[in-house]
Amino acid sequence: MESLNTVLSRLEALGVKSEELQKALERPTLDAASTKPFWDDPYIATQMMRFHLDPNVEAASKRHAVIDAECTFLAKALNLKPGKTLIDLGCGPGLYLERWLATRAQLVGVDLSSVAVVTAKKRLNAPITWIVADYRQLPKTLKADAMTLIYYDFTALPVKDQVPLLKEITDHLNPGGLIALDVMTPQNTYKESIRIAQRESGFWSPKPHTEIHQVFIHTSPKVIIDQYTLIDPSGHWDTIRIQNRLLTQAELEGMLKEAGLMPVTWLSDLSGNPYHPSSKTLAVIAQKNHSQP
Ligand SMILES: C[S@@+](CC[C@H](N)C(=O)[O-])C[C@H]1O[C@@H](n2cnc3c(N)ncnc32)[C@H](O)[C@@H]1O
Repeated sequence: MESLNTVLSRLEALGVKSEELQKALERPTLDAASTKPFWDDPYIATQMMRFHLDPNVEAASKRHAVIDAECTFLAKALNLKPGKTLIDLGCGPGLYLERWLATRAQLVGVDLSSVAVVTAKKRLNAPITWIVADYRQLPKTLKADAMTLIYYDFTALPVKDQVPLLKEITDHLNPGGLIALDVMTPQNTYKESIRIAQRESGFWSPKPHTEIHQVFIHTSPKVIIDQYTLIDPSGHWDTIRIQNRLLTQAELEGMLKEAGLMPVTWLSDLSGNPYHPSSKTLAVIAQKNHSQP
């Protein structure tokens, strides 16, 4: 593994001003934003679509065989049937909604990325309502009997937004409504690291660039931050940060209850495997109180 100093002197030789870059490479504060909104960047979102739609790649979505199993389990657990409404939060190109068409429930997909929604619409051409929006601010009149937030997306949000999102979900669920979501647990082990690569093009940019990938561990709360600094030949750089908070069952339970949601089923994953404390993933189905409007 290369040290930060080795990386900086390599870049200085390429003409990059090292003091400013050194600042950009410092340990980020929790919830520090990316300099570029990558989910809706046309090039990055198109790269993501390639990964989503490849059945055997676990990158932007789970492998399609796993999605099949999760959809079968969740269709039952969330009681999807005609007359019920389900909203898939962060639906991507609609891999889950596609599989729930057979339930004949009313389906709604919400995603920040217009590339994802356009891909989903074109791909499925089905009676699904598509909404390009940030799910932290859902349209006021939108209500559902069930919601899903899948592929550890909940813990990729800034920590400060996690309980508020659960409150937003409660507000948009009908009384007795259900939310299913999955997270990663502290059973996953990570090491801090730094790596540099020179690329002609890559996942984050179609142009020649230097990519510095750093992994930082924030201990309390436990959050893994993947920080990508992408430097073009003119010396301009962007920083992309992907956070992932690792949650214990007790922590997630506390957050759900704070938002007015009661856990009804704990699982190791959304395929329905029972909860086990040593599992690297954790899933929950939680319910809004029947008497809460
Ligand atoms: C890792 S992908 C998972 C997509 C889908 N759940 C799946 O498993 O196939 C995350 C998706 O959430 C969307 N997303 C991220 N943050 C969002 C937000 N705040 N509001 C709405 N969509 C968001 C992204 O555009 C992306 O399509």
